Amino acid sequence: MTSSKWIWIITGSLTIILAAFIFFHIERANDLMHRSMKIEPVLLEINNDSTALRIGKKWVTSICAECHGTDLGGHTVVEDPIIGRLYAPNLTRGKGGISYLNNNEHWLAALRHGVSVTGRPLVLMPSVEYTKMRKEDVGGIIAYLNTLPPVDRINQKSAFKPMAKFLLSLGVFGNLFSADLIDHQAPIPENRKNETLAERGAYLTEIIGCQGCHGSTFTGKYTGDPMSPKAPNITPAGNFSKWDYEDFSNLMNTGITRDGKAVNNRFMPWEAYSRLPENELKAIYTYLKSL
Ligand code: HEC
Ligand code: HEC
Repeated sequence: MTSSKWIWIITGSLTIILAAFIFFHIERANDLMHRSMKIEPVLLEINNDSTALRIGKKWVTSICAECHGTDLGGHTVVEDPIIGRLYAPNLTRGKGGISYLNNNEHWLAALRHGVSVTGRPLVLMPSVEYTKMRKEDVGGIIAYLNTLPPVDRINQKSAFKPMAKFLLSLGVFGNLFSADLIDHQAPIPENRKNETLAERGAYLTEIIGCQGCHGSTFTGKYTGDPMSPKAPNITPAGNFSKWDYEDFSNLMNTGITRDGKAVNNRFMPWEAYSRLPENELKAIYTYLKSL
């Protein structure tokens, strides 16, 4: 055989091996996304009193609204020509809403176990953080979800492009299925009384998930969204040492940093945080300053 024939045979074989490799991972991602997980949610008795509804409203309108939309009627979380689309569904009883979830067990399965009522593991729903929520917060959220004003909006289909599936199977984004990372038997944390402002702040950063972007020790990291700027160091070792509470509150309420920079809500979800009560913002600030 001539050498050019050999080159054709080798490049042809390599192409076939590469195609098989890509095909294998796309199929594997399909299997991961459409598998069924049998979960027995850890149950909680839900109170519908005014305290529960007040607590629930606080969390649902701030942290859940970040992805499910300000009116909780569903919202596109990712829309990208290469990645595809990921839609956070309509949580209300309106037309197109997930009314089948009007059942506390189903809410618990989605919220604390990352599993849909059909047993499908949810993608990117931050249930790992929500397993750290205390009983009063979990109960309040569910009580309030059951009273959400109906919004008529049909859910868009989430659809990943082959490239995203390939990367998902390879684990390039980390594991996006909360359900794989959760201890499904763990009890719901008890409520706490008499905690200091800084202790309260530490709890809040955990359930809101500031660490997911700023790093487990808040010293800054790349967030996983390739378009996003690096999430900065927000301990007193960084630029944050110069910030006072006014600067912090201003960022959380208006999206403007101490240096006068407008922060894109897509990369740092301050709009959702602007709906947190002032005492909670103070707790978070106090905790960050204590680091
Ligand atoms: C970081 C974005 C994000 C946040 C914050 C978020 N969700 Fe989700 N949620 C999603 C996405 C994305 C899906 C759809 C996942 C899928 O279809 O695989 C989802 C799905 C759900 C579902 C649907 C379950 C099903 O059976 O189909 C429920 C219920 C839900 N979320 C409730 C909540 C509640 C309550 C909160 C606040 C405590 C919240 N989510 C916060 C992104 C988010
Ligand atoms: C989805 C990722 C993400 C989450 C969640 C997030 N941040 Fe950020 N944050 C960022 C990014 C990215 C920036 C930088 C934005 C820029 O430079 O435009 C930032 C900037 C900041 C800044 C400004 C610091 C400076 O020196 O300019 C503070 C303060 C801050 N975040 C606090 C928080 C707190 C507190 C939480 C949780 C309540 C939080 N962030 C949650 C991504 C995130």
